[in-house]
Amino acid sequence: MARPIDALLAAMTLEEKIGQLTMTEGSGHGVARDVQTAIRQGGLGSLLNVHHAPTVRELQRLAVEETRLGIPLVFGLDVLHGHRTIFPIPLAEAAAFDPALWEKTAAAAAAEATRDGIMLTFAPMLDLARDPRWGRIAESPGEDPLLGSRFAAAKVRGFQGHALSDPMRLAATAKHIGAYGAVTAGREYASSDISERSLLELHLPAFKAAAEAGVAAVMAAFTDIAGVPAHANVALLRDRLRQGWGFDGVVVSDYGAIAELVPHGVAADIAEAAALALNAGVDIDMMGGAYRRGLPAALARGLVGAEAVDAAVMRVLRLKEQLGLFDDPYRGLSRSAPADDGLVRGLAREAARRSIVLLSNDGVLPLPPTLRRVAVVGPLAAANRPMLGPWAALGDATPATTIADGLRRALPSCAIDVAMGTPIDGADTSGIADACRIAEAADIIVLCLGEDDTMSGEAGSRARPELPGAQRTLAEVMLDLGKPVVALLTSGRPLIVPWLVERASAVLATWFLGHEAGHAIADVLTGAANPSGRLPVSWPRDVGQVPIFYAERPTGRPAEAANRFTSKYLDLPATPQFPFGHGLSYSRFVLSGLRISADEIRSGDDVEVAVEVANDGPAAGQATILLFIHDPVACVARPRLELKDFTRVGLMPGERESVRFRLASETFMFPGRDLSPVLETGEIEILVGTSAAPDGLLRTSLRVIADREAEPRRGAIPEPRTESGPGR
Ligand code: BGC
Repeated sequence: MARPIDALLAAMTLEEKIGQLTMTEGSGHGVARDVQTAIRQGGLGSLLNVHHAPTVRELQRLAVEETRLGIPLVFGLDVLHGHRTIFPIPLAEAAAFDPALWEKTAAAAAAEATRDGIMLTFAPMLDLARDPRWGRIAESPGEDPLLGSRFAAAKVRGFQGHALSDPMRLAATAKHIGAYGAVTAGREYASSDISERSLLELHLPAFKAAAEAGVAAVMAAFTDIAGVPAHANVALLRDRLRQGWGFDGVVVSDYGAIAELVPHGVAADIAEAAALALNAGVDIDMMGGAYRRGLPAALARGLVGAEAVDAAVMRVLRLKEQLGLFDDPYRGLSRSAPADDGLVRGLAREAARRSIVLLSNDGVLPLPPTLRRVAVVGPLAAANRPMLGPWAALGDATPATTIADGLRRALPSCAIDVAMGTPIDGADTSGIADACRIAEAADIIVLCLGEDDTMSGEAGSRARPELPGAQRTLAEVMLDLGKPVVALLTSGRPLIVPWLVERASAVLATWFLGHEAGHAIADVLTGAANPSGRLPVSWPRDVGQVPIFYAERPTGRPAEAANRFTSKYLDLPATPQFPFGHGLSYSRFVLSGLRISADEIRSGDDVEVAVEVANDGPAAGQATILLFIHDPVACVARPRLELKDFTRVGLMPGERESVRFRLASETFMFPGRDLSPVLETGEIEILVGTSAAPDGLLRTSLRVIADREAEPRRGAIPEPRTESGPGR
């Protein structure tokens, strides 16, 4: 019978307590001898990067059978977008705008990871990202706080299920709080200096959503906000996260980040660093050894109290209890792999198809079945490892389907010739002649361009998020041949390629799609799947526009072509190449009849907004409908558009359907001048469309009446108006 955790705490020495707060790393199949010694002495509470079931079993046995108190270890790993089966990177999957899909892929990854003994994942990554120079945009759900919040809740549900004790589920970690994505000039690990309002409105909502969904852990960011590193940020971790949101899980440090409080310039030595982090509420020290080296001195100097240590240890023990480790320390390990992983591969293919964004298409796609010869050209044409992306966990053991293989399988009676042309990076153009030779003989060129998987993700910032190496040269030679060119962009970020968009017959963002990349791409190119991905980030025309996002605040001098003294660039349009939400399909969706159930809303009320969506195109397809609001007059200027809801609808050719959204009065609240939430009386615009491009939005409005005493009222939905197109 396991001892209750408070009895365990009472029995622990200081070294054992600090051990519970310490996480160190293994190397896949093993750990160093001193790590084994530390486990035996009760000097470790958790491990990361050990993912080999027999090793997990043996290390767990050491902890349970050979330590004084027999406290089991937690094994953690970055399971970002799949474990053995790799799904699309989070930025790509965000393009599906589908919480049910996000939840399913997380659940499938959890089922695979728990079989390898993993109990805790350092995911989902929820950093709002508006700067494609920052490599970690690949791991994030993109630029929008609502999209990020829905993604957060779905991933937490998918990883954790109903109970952490379920041996097929993982404890999730919402990371990295806060505002890591706002690093200066997109440079990895750099400082950020943002307003309290930006933190509240943009960077924290996804973390709050994760906390509300019951996330087990939160990881602090490496970075600082205006001089206060996240690992020492009392206002963020203690006041906001724990007291404000009621989060009672574990806060884990990032890799070595507590010790980094010294080079950050806020701690003189390791004892001060340890005290700052523990006092701010960081429970687990990942890899820094800062608690082990610093906490005894911090306690002796009175920088931290024994009760803070105990509170952190209790949170760690509670996580172990919730995971069911005191009942079954070997949870998950006796489950054998399913004989056939076809179901998971099927899900990976579906997720990959739905992540692809068709950016432009002059009608060349879908490829006609009559094609006789296709040239698949470019450094990503036959690449497999890059398809897996920057956090491919254990996925590298099996190869991903390449684009060329996917096309070969999809077009069995068509000749598929492949040439690399150039490497992904570097100046070597010696392969271009060969690429020309096959391209000249082909009906169409599928141009496979983009990044290597190491060019994004952590420490993957690029000052110029463009095509690396000599790829532009290759592309221009191909475009000059005068044949139809379908360009595929494999990348962890939007790539700046206005010249390509201008000249190619079609351009697709195919991101890093995981194991099923090649099949999913072939499905979309051939029309076996109708593209339905929508951009979760604005796609810039030029690096000079970055950061670029749809939810800009108005200016006192909106752009006017004829007036120099207005908000614009002299040398570029201010608009993105493609707006947030953009994504074409082989269907044509037409929206009309936007209507609202009441023209007033009071505090406590809700209203229904409905719109007709018709598929006027030749193919069945999925439309994504976005609902934005705009508050034109407020005590603090509100963004030009704010996403408040989205939904998807599948329509056969010629079919139409009414799509409904329910908006509660809280939808119209925002942080007032003192940052506390306000609901203000006034007109609010409701804008509905398929992207954030202003000219494609239908508009209506309603009046908010900020009367807290009013009785809740609901309106009946009127019949659709007969006229179509924008207007109110
Ligand atoms: C990353 C985290 C990750 C951790 C453990 C760090 O370098 O910033 O996102 O969870 O390593 O692998």
